[in-house]
Amino acid sequence: MARIALAILILGCCTCAVWSVNDRLREVFSWKQLDFAFPDQKTRQAAIASGEYVQENNLPLGLEVWRDKLFITVPRWKAGVASTLNYVSLGSGSNYNRSPRLVPYPNYQINRLPAAGQSTTNHLINTYRISVDTCDRLWMIDMGISNGTKLGQPQLFIFDLNTDRIVRQFIIAQDLMRVDGNTWFPGLLADTDSDSCNRAFAYLPDLGGGLVVYDYQRNTAKRIEHHYFYFDPLATVFHIGGVRVEWPDGLFGVSMSERHRNGFRTLYFQAMSSTRMFSVDTSVLQSNTSGRNTFEEYRHLGHRGAGMQAGPMTSDEASGTVFYALVNQDAVGCWNPKQYDHLSSETSAVLAQDSETLEFPGDIKVDKDSNLWVLSDRMPRHRFDVNNFDVEDINYRVFRAPVADVIRGTVCESPRTLTRPPTGPNHPSRPRPTTTSTSGSAWNTPSSRAKDFD
Ligand SMILES: *[C@@H]1O[C@H](CO)[C@@H](O)[C@H](O)[C@H]1NC(C)=O
Ligand SMILES: *[C@@H]1O[C@H](CO)[C@@H](O)[C@H](O)[C@H]1NC(C)=O
Repeated sequence: MARIALAILILGCCTCAVWSVNDRLREVFSWKQLDFAFPDQKTRQAAIASGEYVQENNLPLGLEVWRDKLFITVPRWKAGVASTLNYVSLGSGSNYNRSPRLVPYPNYQINRLPAAGQSTTNHLINTYRISVDTCDRLWMIDMGISNGTKLGQPQLFIFDLNTDRIVRQFIIAQDLMRVDGNTWFPGLLADTDSDSCNRAFAYLPDLGGGLVVYDYQRNTAKRIEHHYFYFDPLATVFHIGGVRVEWPDGLFGVSMSERHRNGFRTLYFQAMSSTRMFSVDTSVLQSNTSGRNTFEEYRHLGHRGAGMQAGPMTSDEASGTVFYALVNQDAVGCWNPKQYDHLSSETSAVLAQDSETLEFPGDIKVDKDSNLWVLSDRMPRHRFDVNNFDVEDINYRVFRAPVADVIRGTVCESPRTLTRPPTGPNHPSRPRPTTTSTSGSAWNTPSSRAKDFD
């Protein structure tokens, strides 16, 4: 009894903690649970009756913005996900619906799981994070796994957003993945030359420690490996929403600088289970010279303090700021390589932190008008069914704010207003209790990754 009381005390102290510094981000959407715009009511009822739609199993994760569409992905971690790729319309005026139904994209049928005996390659099965390029195309990587069962190979899909048609499908061949099966693509980044939409690449981080580079023009892909793509063994423990998780997750987040005069960009990248950031020029990634030793072309840029692991990241081309989701801090942070070339706790900042509304910031994006978008979803509690994940509580949120407002007065602000890094810590670290333990990857089923990286 005493132990139960203690556990409640610790939990209670966590949930009502003072870490609520989220006045820079504005909440634009929130949901207790997700619902979908099915073709009609009969289809919806049939999907519920058959178990094809189990409302509480639908968790939003990735987001992306194109014109008046806000895309939201729903991974098929559990059974009963109605549709993995969706959007909601960005309302205008103050009377818009703040908990809208998700509209399957490009339609409901293609988002349904293939029936037994049906080919799997023309269905959207399971996607996490997506990328919209400057040529009005949406790129997504589909892992092909539903509720822990592999239905098909990972596949890259590219949609023309003006016609809502698929313009490219590319199956990720076995030789682009780890031989032990521990490849997982948590997202991708499209790098398109807006003067020539044919000249486009996608960078797909593999959290098993690799980067797949897809060349659109040649319709080929290659795998790159580098020691900087691995996780830090001292940064694999996370405490999120009172859940202790051990994630040996390597390369996860990628974002790009503006285009340099030579046409290439700087790619920033980080592992999920790490506090370090690295970079490489995209000319190295796109180059044909396989076999050339490019180890020295990759740069270490520094690290944030302990506990500041971040996976999802994005860049604002206008200010040069790199934003990342500090998943272990219920927070969003930034670093501006145009201001400070080295990443440290003094040259980076925590912009928003809230143990209730930012519990697991699952994705972060900057749109072409320099608005920062963040989606939070309490993923560990939902995924592992622990700590009273409550369907009556507001669990899923989308925030937006102009980049200029978000970084004002911080070390990420541009032009440089500070000549020296400020003194003192920028990074409060909140106390965190240990209540529930689980292990495995954030993205795969725990059992299938039980032998990770022995
Ligand atoms: C989903 O996976 C769980 C765990 O493996 C299993 O018990 C359940 O039957 C699966 N559901 C469906 C509909 O396949
Ligand atoms: C790169 O390699 C491909 C196939 O091996 C070849 O067709 C192409 O011409 C090469 N490009 C350059 C710039 O060397």
